[in-house]
Amino acid sequence: MASRQSFHAFGCLTFFSCILFCSYTPTFALIDVERSYIARRQLLTLRENGELPDRYEYTVKTTEKFENERLRRAFIALQAWKKAMYSDPKNITSNWFGPNVCDYKGVYCARAIDDPKLKVVAGIDLNHADIAGYFPVELGLLTDVALIHLNSNRFCGIIPDSLSKLTLMHEFDVSNNRFVGVFPRVVLSWPSVKYLDLRFNNFEGCLPPELFEKDLDALFLNDNRFTCNIPETIGKSSVSVVTFANNKFKGCIPRSIGKMSNLDEIIFSNNNLGGCFPQEIGLLHNVTIFDVSKNSFMGSLPANFSCFKKVDVLDISGNKLTGSVPEDICKLPSLSSFKFSYNYFSEEHMACIKPERKNIVVDDVGQMYRRVSTF
Ligand SMILES: *[C@@H]1O[C@H](CO)[C@@H](O)[C@H](O)[C@H]1NC(C)=O
Ligand SMILES: *[C@@H]1O[C@H](CO)[C@@H](O)[C@H](O)[C@H]1NC(C)=O
Ligand SMILES: *[C@@H]1O[C@H](CO)[C@@H](O)[C@H](O)[C@H]1NC(C)=O
Repeated sequence: MASRQSFHAFGCLTFFSCILFCSYTPTFALIDVERSYIARRQLLTLRENGELPDRYEYTVKTTEKFENERLRRAFIALQAWKKAMYSDPKNITSNWFGPNVCDYKGVYCARAIDDPKLKVVAGIDLNHADIAGYFPVELGLLTDVALIHLNSNRFCGIIPDSLSKLTLMHEFDVSNNRFVGVFPRVVLSWPSVKYLDLRFNNFEGCLPPELFEKDLDALFLNDNRFTCNIPETIGKSSVSVVTFANNKFKGCIPRSIGKMSNLDEIIFSNNNLGGCFPQEIGLLHNVTIFDVSKNSFMGSLPANFSCFKKVDVLDISGNKLTGSVPEDICKLPSLSSFKFSYNYFSEEHMACIKPERKNIVVDDVGQMYRRVSTF
């Protein structure tokens, strides 16, 4: 509370503080024009998910001296964010006051990419901070940030569109929070995002097809409330890891899956997916984890599963699969765990019941009935 009051006590924008940042803003005249408006601007007065006006930072009064104008912008963003926090049980943000934003706990500074003479806020890491609050529009002022890690907090509400100004974003992890609403399309505007972790939130609705056209390395979507079909664009995705588990996705696995050229791990478990497996999965020669458990897949297993030369974990349990479990699958060279329990298979090969290699775990319980085939 004390810090909030001291924040309100900040003086007006003085001519002196203008001089401080004049050198960074060739369009200083514009600021003067807006002067009457300037004196009144308070933090958190922007409409929720409203626009962050250009040069917004000059409309906020500060009396502190900053090493450079970009740190002043970061200060405004972080102070607005602190005001937007309802609970910080570990007192992580207790040193978030004053102009030395690089000393704030969880805030990381580095040389600016476009101007190495300048120190700027390049990352925020508040993993496991257990903070409750929301994302104010002002966070769009953190334009030098390339990394946001907020795993296991209690941030709620939506991811505001103003974050589109964070054009250097590389890693964005808001997993295990309380975000809601449709897929946060603002993440699609970041040109160089590689790692996107949205798991364990309450996002809902369909996935935008453009998501799979981003140059991502890892995409975590599991444990939300996503619905709809998985977009056909998945085949264009550059991800090596993608998780769809524990949502309400429906429909088939798109045939384009076979075009996922970097795929290593893919997890579809516990959705409402169904239909037959597309033959094209046989093109996923490098996949090491393939998990389609707890869906409603039907039909017999395509022989193409035996193309999974690098598969380590294969889980097809808890579906409505019929026919036989081909011997070739149980002899795959890298397989260490193969689960096909709780299906309607009527035949399995000795190679699956007593695998030749001792380091394979096979789980085959819960079939309707079983006939062992040894030929
Ligand atoms: C956080 O600060 C409050 C008030 O200063 C104090 O009562 C509490 O014990 C602190 N909690 C931790 C985890 O340090
Ligand atoms: C598998 O990985 C190798 C080596 O990285 C690569 O050359 C090949 O194109 C990959 N194949 C597929 C189908 O992803
Ligand atoms: C999948 O297997 C079928 C039958 O063995 C074969 O005709 C087809 O060409 C295979 N497709 C791919 C994509 O590997």
